[in-house]
Amino acid sequence: MNISRRKFLDQTAVGLVGSAAFHVTSFAQAPSEAGGGQKPLIVSTWPFGKPANDVALKVLLRGGSILDAVEQGIWVVESDPDNRSVGLGGGPNAAGVVQLDACIMFGPGHRAGSVAALEGIRHPISAARRVMEKTTHVMLVGEGARMFALQEGLEAIAVDSRERYELWQRQKIGQRTNPPEKKKDNHDTIALLALGADGNLAGGCSTSGLGGKLPGRVGDSPILGSGLYVDNEVGAAGATGVGENVMRYCGSFLVVEYMRQGLHPQSACEATIQRIAKQDPKGLDLSINFVALDKQGRFGAAGTDKNFRFAATTSSSSGVLQPMLVDHLDAGAGAGRR
Ligand code: GLY
Repeated sequence: MNISRRKFLDQTAVGLVGSAAFHVTSFAQAPSEAGGGQKPLIVSTWPFGKPANDVALKVLLRGGSILDAVEQGIWVVESDPDNRSVGLGGGPNAAGVVQLDACIMFGPGHRAGSVAALEGIRHPISAARRVMEKTTHVMLVGEGARMFALQEGLEAIAVDSRERYELWQRQKIGQRTNPPEKKKDNHDTIALLALGADGNLAGGCSTSGLGGKLPGRVGDSPILGSGLYVDNEVGAAGATGVGENVMRYCGSFLVVEYMRQGLHPQSACEATIQRIAKQDPKGLDLSINFVALDKQGRFGAAGTDKNFRFAATTSSSSGVLQPMLVDHLDAGAGAGRR
């Protein structure tokens, strides 16, 4: 898919995102997009992915590795104290503690690292990368993950999340007496996928998870194949939304497998949502959203959340896009564009 043909939305113009002119179908179906796209290419979830993509691109353009690009891109979002869903500024759990989940995957060699329920570490994505690079394991959790991160010299920060916890408690009580018409999203994950100029792939995922979750709850984000999956022969996919609804179906793995069968990343995201929604008693009320890119440099995204947006970046363009909203079940699901 040729990114230069698209109408990109700058972060400053996100208000325009609802316009049909920017709907993902308008570019996903352009004929020239059946071929290859641009490399390097970076795709990530949500508008906050754009500054992360821009940093990742800079790393690549100055000769850095795709792993450095993924890690340093995600640092941008993890470092933002105003972000209430990623990093230590994120929403606390039901005990008032911020517990973070992250993972990273490197296409060559099919390597991966992951941390879950990690407390007080500024950059969980770096802890995940160290697990991959410095241990024989793939995943560390809780206090073990924290001790490892400290041992590795990663920055620790004491977090006082009392105010956020009290706010969450007040909102919870408010919602019981006055329930919102539609579920309010309180869980936005950064999943960032990178395709290097050399055709290699990497990806990372980081979140504070569902606000008010039970202590110890782990969502999809650090689970390989759920919140993130990278296959260097095919492509990469990442997820955001209600982790439980992604991880019961290995959502990101499924997107990559659809791409392996020849589907365009856009069709692969849609087919995954259709397949999950058909099988799940919740139908389309799942809050699941995917981004994907393939080895040829094509990309796509789809979700069940109306407010879901994603960011795409190449050396010539960078912007926030409105993905395909999957709001009805399609009888021919899975037979998407190749
Ligand atoms: N998708 C993030 C979570 O549910 O934890």
